[in-house]
Amino acid sequence: MVKNYLKDVYVGGTDDSRELYASWAATYDKEVQENGYVTPQRVANALKDVVRDQSEHILDYGCGTGLSGSALQAVGFENIDGLDVSQEMVILAEKKSIYKNLRVFDPSNEIPVYRDQYKIITAIGVIGAGAAPLKTFDSLFALLPPDGLFAFSFNDHTLNDPNYEKKVKQCLNSGHAAILHKSYGSHLPKANLKSNIYILKKL
Ligand SMILES: C[S@@+](CC[C@H](N)C(=O)[O-])C[C@H]1O[C@@H](n2cnc3c(N)ncnc32)[C@H](O)[C@@H]1O
Repeated sequence: MVKNYLKDVYVGGTDDSRELYASWAATYDKEVQENGYVTPQRVANALKDVVRDQSEHILDYGCGTGLSGSALQAVGFENIDGLDVSQEMVILAEKKSIYKNLRVFDPSNEIPVYRDQYKIITAIGVIGAGAAPLKTFDSLFALLPPDGLFAFSFNDHTLNDPNYEKKVKQCLNSGHAAILHKSYGSHLPKANLKSNIYILKKL
């Protein structure tokens, strides 16, 4: 019988989810697609509405098997790089031939991206319960140049912890970013989950 990971993924919470994604990789696409996974399409559409030049280089952080990159490509983005901590997920992303560059890194090290390298960074289904810790928000935001865009999502499980929304509010209230988009909508509709998606512009 194929294991159902959606039931387990949001339970617990650790800074390193590599073991979980190593075992989930082979069935990840099927399971999330069967549950109507739509956050990548929502983020991609919102980003398309605010980006004029679709050849702009994008870092799809926590690219996983490439469902997020595939949604970005489907709305016309041409230059997408992928980065993730799970070798098993990235091997599957590679097969989709979406990403110009695809890399795996160890989350106990610094993110292997230099400051200002990307004008757009996405973290779709990545920060929060079951994946990357909240400190990832600051690390990714710090890599953007002024006017750079940060597009990300927090699902219902993540939103249950007020610290995630608090982080976004602090970033806005301190004058470090402006919000270009925020909407609450479907995430995994068949699992009864929604998500907030956000696009912040660094000031
Ligand atoms: C729910 S999947 C989302 C994958 C893809 N973005 C999508 O929309 O299908 C979460 C991904 O985040 C990755 N991840 C977990 N912790 C991470 C971290 N600290 N840094 C980067 N990626 C991480 C996992 O390996 C996994 O591929």
